[in-house]
Amino acid sequence: MDLSEIKEVCRKISDSINSVVLGYEKEVKLILVSLLSNGHVLLEGVPGVAKTTLIKSIAKTLGLSEKTVVVDGVPYRGFSRIQFTPDLMPSDITGTLVYNPQTREFEPRLGPVFSYIVLADEINRAVPRTQSALLQAMQEREVTIGDKTYPLEIREKGKFFFVLATQNPVEQEATYPLPEAQLDRFLMRIFMEYPPSLEVEKNVYRLHMSRVKEPYEDLEPVVEAPWIIKAQETVATQVTVPEDILEYITRLIRSTRPQIFEPAADYFELGASPRAGIFLVKAAKAHAALRGSSEVEEVDVEEVLFSVLNHRLIPSFEKLVEIEVKGERHLARYKLIKEGLDLIKKTVR
Ligand SMILES: Nc1ncnc2c1ncn2[C@@H]1O[C@H](COP(=O)(O)OP(=O)(O)OP(=O)(O)O)[C@@H](O)[C@H]1O
Ligand SMILES: [Mg+2]
Repeated sequence: MDLSEIKEVCRKISDSINSVVLGYEKEVKLILVSLLSNGHVLLEGVPGVAKTTLIKSIAKTLGLSEKTVVVDGVPYRGFSRIQFTPDLMPSDITGTLVYNPQTREFEPRLGPVFSYIVLADEINRAVPRTQSALLQAMQEREVTIGDKTYPLEIREKGKFFFVLATQNPVEQEATYPLPEAQLDRFLMRIFMEYPPSLEVEKNVYRLHMSRVKEPYEDLEPVVEAPWIIKAQETVATQVTVPEDILEYITRLIRSTRPQIFEPAADYFELGASPRAGIFLVKAAKAHAALRGSSEVEEVDVEEVLFSVLNHRLIPSFEKLVEIEVKGERHLARYKLIKEGLDLIKKTVR
């Protein structure tokens, strides 16, 4: 596969999605970057901004919505949606052993993680033990049921494993915010805000005005699932990071740490880890591939920087309180992190 094919196919995928979910071109691109870097996504946004619809559209364009693929005797669904609720159990995610009275044996009942694409809807509504079951599966890309361990990713057979979780950022009753250490499992945290303009929002209403069905249901598949694995390998092996860009990335990451770059203390309690840096390199490479380029440029780093780092930086508590006082509760965090990263970008360049 060459990089021009990745560019071309991903353009088709995003065109399809952008025709049914309006106004989120940037977010769609970031999700494709995550998929090509083999990383999971946390989508954050208030209710009703098409988070679920966007994810279902992706499954549609990859031809995975209604299909089950048997790999090595194990059936994997193309797409599963798990609605997280306070009474959801870990076994509702991974699966469990059930007793079969006919054979008098315990048999595995495979949970919804046995899928190519998993939509974990409203992940912050389940109790931490259940959240961990998913997060562990995401990290290890395998699950154990009884005494058998099953892979969730089988690269040589074209089976990928992509989790998109959604959460509502507005503080609610009975929610369990993911701890920072768990957030780290997500390559990106992407925000979906309200539609960007009056014109776009009007078009959303036009799109739905004379339909009974959801517009995404008519989307046609653009590629088959194994293509994704091939594209991931191509990005990993064919996109290179020139020395000056690697230096730039390393300086950026180090400057988020107040111990190294003092002004960062005005924004961050804790800076980015080397793991964050590794993810940043991967995401920048996938972004370059979407441009059809075999070399990462500064623009690739900048376009993914905020989404890769925003959930890994611990904002300065004092500053956060100052902003919150002005009445911008859940936006305060994003704003502070954005300002901090902007300052760092300016100083490092
Ligand atoms: N920008 C948009 N373009 C097209 N359709 C939209 C857009 N925004 C909202 N919709 C439509 O609004 C409805 C709500 O979307 P959806 O259920 O995906 O939202 P959500 O963000 O998942 O909400 P919740 O947080 O409540 O689950 C859907 O019918 C969706 O198609
Ligand atoms: Mg939803």
